[in-house]
Amino acid sequence: MSKGTFYITTPIYYPSANLHIGHTYCTVATDVMARYKRMRGFDVMFLTGTDEHGLKIEEKARDAGITPQQFVDHVVAGIKDLWKLMNISYDRFIRTTDDYHVSSIQRIFKMMYDKGDIYKGSYRGLYCTPCESFWTESQLVDGKCPDCGREVKYAEEEAYFFRASKYADRVRELLKTTDFLQPASRVNEMINNFLDCEGGLQDLCVSRTTFKWGIPVDFDPGHVVYVWLDALFNYMTALGYCNDAHHDLEKFWPADVHFVGKEIVRFHSIYWPAFLMSLDLPLPKKVYGHGWLLLDGGKMSKSFGNVVDPVLLAQRYGVDALRYFLLREFPFGSDGNFSNEALIARINADLANDLGNLISRSAAMMEKYFDGVIPEAREAGPEDEALLAMAKALPGLYEEQMEKYAFQQALQEVFKVLSRANKYIDETAPWVLAKDPEKKARLASVLYNLLETERICVTLLKPFIPDSAEKFRVMLGVAEDRFCWDDALRWGVLPAGTKVSKGENVFPRIDMQKELALLESIHETKQAKEAAPEKKPESPAEGLISIGDFQKVELRVAKVLACEPVKKSDKLLCLQLDAGGEQRQVVSGIHSWYQPENLIGKKVLLVSNLTPAKLRGVESRGMILAATVGDRAQVVFVDDAIPEGSKLS
Ligand code: MSP
Repeated sequence: MSKGTFYITTPIYYPSANLHIGHTYCTVATDVMARYKRMRGFDVMFLTGTDEHGLKIEEKARDAGITPQQFVDHVVAGIKDLWKLMNISYDRFIRTTDDYHVSSIQRIFKMMYDKGDIYKGSYRGLYCTPCESFWTESQLVDGKCPDCGREVKYAEEEAYFFRASKYADRVRELLKTTDFLQPASRVNEMINNFLDCEGGLQDLCVSRTTFKWGIPVDFDPGHVVYVWLDALFNYMTALGYCNDAHHDLEKFWPADVHFVGKEIVRFHSIYWPAFLMSLDLPLPKKVYGHGWLLLDGGKMSKSFGNVVDPVLLAQRYGVDALRYFLLREFPFGSDGNFSNEALIARINADLANDLGNLISRSAAMMEKYFDGVIPEAREAGPEDEALLAMAKALPGLYEEQMEKYAFQQALQEVFKVLSRANKYIDETAPWVLAKDPEKKARLASVLYNLLETERICVTLLKPFIPDSAEKFRVMLGVAEDRFCWDDALRWGVLPAGTKVSKGENVFPRIDMQKELALLESIHETKQAKEAAPEKKPESPAEGLISIGDFQKVELRVAKVLACEPVKKSDKLLCLQLDAGGEQRQVVSGIHSWYQPENLIGKKVLLVSNLTPAKLRGVESRGMILAATVGDRAQVVFVDDAIPEGSKLS
């Protein structure tokens, strides 16, 4: 039975460039909360989307020689791919270019105008083009835009204004007397800087005439609606406010929480409630302003060229490892410094060691001592109490933190119990018990306590690492319908006779030094590429490449002369190729799907001008092409009639 509804949102992202790890952070956090609430029995609506209008996008599209719509369509497709890769379980995706949203915003603007809360005036002030914001002199920081730190310039335009000043007192009251804005540390900043500042809360300029790529004010052509008014209402239009495209407004509004980054707290905690007050609409229950992921202590930004690519990290270390790291490493409400070193250290210490190793050790012992089947006869011992008490208390402690969006602490609670379970193995020494036939029941009990503790922990980790949790569930033999919150509250769920199996290594250990070197070399290659002067006249949209770019890739037909597995690796094969009079050694991660003997003699496609790299210490000079089919890689074989060395173009 449903426990009620839960409506959670991410900010809608600007599709002006591909998203980076900072955007991924907020979306993963929202996904974890949505999955947690679903596990708790709530009927969840998880909304994300894209904020597609504005000057910046218009300019980028112009530079690329395509229409703004073509430009955003392309970037949005990439954003959706990223969310798919990251296993984001959103229920709805809104684009502010969706027809229903556009017409809803026109109606909303008109209603506010008719009410007298939007009026026509003219604006003179200091304007930040990238942020599309006007600022007063006193709001500038060191003479620059307080949001992005860029230069501002004097601008003047006829514009519509929203009477924000009318709602200043009610907004102040909301921030001061309720827990609407969290963490509480952000409240004073908002009040001091925007409400109680000199001159108080200024009316907000909510239309633009300097560009076209926006929602037209239908009763005054030439004006387009300010992106923030357009964007903020997405949270309601996506449910059917002022449109017939959806019908869930009654069910889900007001939102339970909007997760937003700290720099957009101002829009969500001041203007958003004021807009809603103007239309007499209920306010969202909470706005949570999370911190930023920093790189070397500074902001990550595509224009600064210092972004971290989530796709690369997810592909190298696994989606779940990256999801876990993001929420375990950084306190959600504060900034945190991203580093590859921290990522790998965290994966090795927590996921490979404390969690993965614990479960595979327990399962391996079950297989060794009991043929993998949980026995009936058991015997309690003095070491049990401490572990059982912690495992039983865990769901309550976890819940307390999750309800505060304190993901880091919730995970810490789980890992305290996993560490305790590791200690319990040392205390009880099952391998010693196994030597004594008299102690068979005690041994069974020790292993059972471990499995039960692991079952509870893995259930609670499910929102964070969904795919890996599923693999652990299978290893532990937990029935699908018992892998749930209610059973995490119970001890003794696994019945005698349950089959436990060791399974695959879910989180393999990563060789820190090698990986850091590899990531560094990938980064350098990328930087060198970006620093190379751009070849004009082509300047395609983000994500598209020009024919010149394509020509940089040297593709050749090559014949596999020899092939063998790379030592100490399950996944890598080392191939010797004849690339047309030149022998090439290439390492490829295809061993899971191909045996060496099935490749020898075949012709493949080789990327022959790739920077050499070392994989598990073996030099690789090039890459062979494979298609991704489901979760497997399928090598592209070439007709035998095409001679080795032939170039593709
Ligand atoms: N389009 C607006 C939001 C409108 S919501 C009605 C916007 N888009 S954005 O793409 O620039 O940013 C989206 C979110 O990503 C923001 O919450 C922002 O804080 C977050 N992040 C961008 N870089 C980030 C980090 N480096 N770290 C954490 N979050 C960051 O603002």
